[in-house]
Amino acid sequence: MDPAKRASVGTRVEEQVKDWLRYGEELGLGPYYRDRAPSHQPSEPASIETAESAPAKMAPAAVVRRAPVAALSAASAPKSAPSPNPAAAAAPAIVAPASLPSLFESIDRIVDDTLARIREDIGDCTRCKLHKGRTNIVFGVGNPKAELLFVGEGPGHDEDIKGEPFVGRAGKLLTQMIEAMNLRREDVYIANVVKCRPPENRLPEKDEITTCSPFLMRQIDVIKPKVVCCLGSCAAQTLLQTTQGISRFRGEWFDFRGAKLIATYHPAYLLRNPPAKSEVWKDLQKVMAVLGLQPRKR
Ligand code: URA
Repeated sequence: MDPAKRASVGTRVEEQVKDWLRYGEELGLGPYYRDRAPSHQPSEPASIETAESAPAKMAPAAVVRRAPVAALSAASAPKSAPSPNPAAAAAPAIVAPASLPSLFESIDRIVDDTLARIREDIGDCTRCKLHKGRTNIVFGVGNPKAELLFVGEGPGHDEDIKGEPFVGRAGKLLTQMIEAMNLRREDVYIANVVKCRPPENRLPEKDEITTCSPFLMRQIDVIKPKVVCCLGSCAAQTLLQTTQGISRFRGEWFDFRGAKLIATYHPAYLLRNPPAKSEVWKDLQKVMAVLGLQPRKR
């Protein structure tokens, strides 16, 4: 075979193998990946704005590294996915092997846990460096039996001062979104991945997320919402244990710790990019359908 042709066949095969591996990971079929160290690499651009405003620029190689607790929905499988294993390709439903819990699924559920106990366990936390700059720990707020739980990234300036999540400009927009769903803020629960404000509103770092997110998992286990709605990349990537850009899986349903999980854009992003509101509204309508809510009458 002439060398140029051989090289081109080689590249094609390599691409096919990569596609298949990516597909396998997205389907949660890869127990052989489970031994790999979890990584919350910021393959995502540094700011939410970039991550969410430029889906076309996202690195195509960013993949779901670890099956979200149950797995990506079938709808998210790549349409052109190769199928070296026809049996797997024909499987009607994609479910992660029950014997292989993901990192977060395997965090022990604490019997008789309560929000008060979680808050008590957090205490006057100094577990990570974020404590140095905080005014208040922002634990979470809302209905402890909420059917809908929103998860943001971390407190900003206003939240740090007030000790309550989503009270600044982005928070006001979130409240409007909640009301458009025909709910009140008090009906839902609102929490963040990290409970102390990152300096200069930077993204929470991996060690901070690793330290703080178990408390969020406990909150989710106690509240037992029907739907978890991740606001922005940080929440979505943390809960789904992925480095994939949010625009790749926004609006898709996942199973997560007994709840249905959906990710949508962060309200702060919407403040900078109002046209994206229509996408978010589509996602919220999916949530409303699951919760049996009718849009608010104007
Ligand atoms: N952004 C977040 O992600 N969380 C808040 O609480 C406020 C702004």
